[in-house]
Amino acid sequence: MSKDSVKDSAVDMELLGEILSAFGQVDSNDLIPILQKIQDSYGYLPRIVLMEFSKRTAIPASRIYGVATFYEQFHLEPHGRHTVRCCRGTACHVKGAVGIAEAIEKSLGIKDGETSKDMQFTFETVACLGTCALAPVMMVNGTYHGKMTPNHIQTIIESLKSSQGEG
Ligand code: FES
Repeated sequence: MSKDSVKDSAVDMELLGEILSAFGQVDSNDLIPILQKIQDSYGYLPRIVLMEFSKRTAIPASRIYGVATFYEQFHLEPHGRHTVRCCRGTACHVKGAVGIAEAIEKSLGIKDGETSKDMQFTFETVACLGTCALAPVMMVNGTYHGKMTPNHIQTIIESLKSSQGEG
């Protein structure tokens, strides 16, 4: 999904006000926890909210964007309800990560970096998930799945799809 599909006018700026007032006097040491709160509230880090955050706190937008783009936990575009990550690091690559990524793309019908139209899934490949002994590895909503095979992928994704709407 393109970021243009979410209109700036639809963004509720009151949430930002609540977050900032909960922090009181804000300085750049608070950037990570504040960005985490913004992402929890909005589901991602909308550009217009980051610009307003900069305006209200006098923290330069370049500094805010520097942190937001450095950490993989932060998303500058809308994310799906489920985040599926596949490792493309060396250990996983050697154990067949390319085939795992292809199986995920096929099951979800989206490519690396995309979010499904129904906003249920986002798929991302990452440099290393930090559990190389379990290669090839994928992560679903923060849970590791190691020693993956394309068949495992299909089973896991199908169970996620069938759990849609269950909260
Ligand atoms: S290379 Fe895949 S988890 Fe480290």
